[in-house]
Amino acid sequence: MSKLFVIISAIFVGNLVFLSTTILKNSVQDPWEVPAKYQKLENPFASDADAENIGKTLYNKHCKSCHGSEGKGDGPKAEGLDTPTGDFTEASFKEQTDGALYYKTIFGRDDMPSFETKITEEKDRWLLINYLKRL
Ligand code: HEC
Repeated sequence: MSKLFVIISAIFVGNLVFLSTTILKNSVQDPWEVPAKYQKLENPFASDADAENIGKTLYNKHCKSCHGSEGKGDGPKAEGLDTPTGDFTEASFKEQTDGALYYKTIFGRDDMPSFETKITEEKDRWLLINYLKRL
């Protein structure tokens, strides 16, 4: 086997690996496992009317830039991300427990930031979750 052939094959295989991982990364997201403790976490503010619109205010401040004003995932920052943000208006999103949404919102993963130190009040966190479910 000539050296040139080996080099060309190596470049070809390298490109294939690069391409397929890029495609996979953009199309299939690993399921986001939520620990049982959070899955079943009770929302103590589920029936709070949020007269001061705290949920909406927090959403516009921290989430809209990626998730979009209506939660469809079309915020101005979404394009630059490696992973799709999901669509909060879909039934599959609303079917999740409040605790699961709390877990994902507070701890994040990859492109989804953690809000553990940015949104610290329990009540604020749950009013934000309530708002996500109304989008
Ligand atoms: C920098 C962009 C960015 C910001 C800002 C952001 N998110 Fe996300 N969010 C993402 C991405 C990307 C995902 C998908 C993550 C994944 O699946 O790995 C995501 C996923 C989620 C999910 C899970 C969606 C699902 O379908 O299960 C929730 C819930 C969520 N975000 C809530 C929020 C909330 C609430 C805020 C504001 C406090 C926020 N996000 C701010 C990028 C962002």
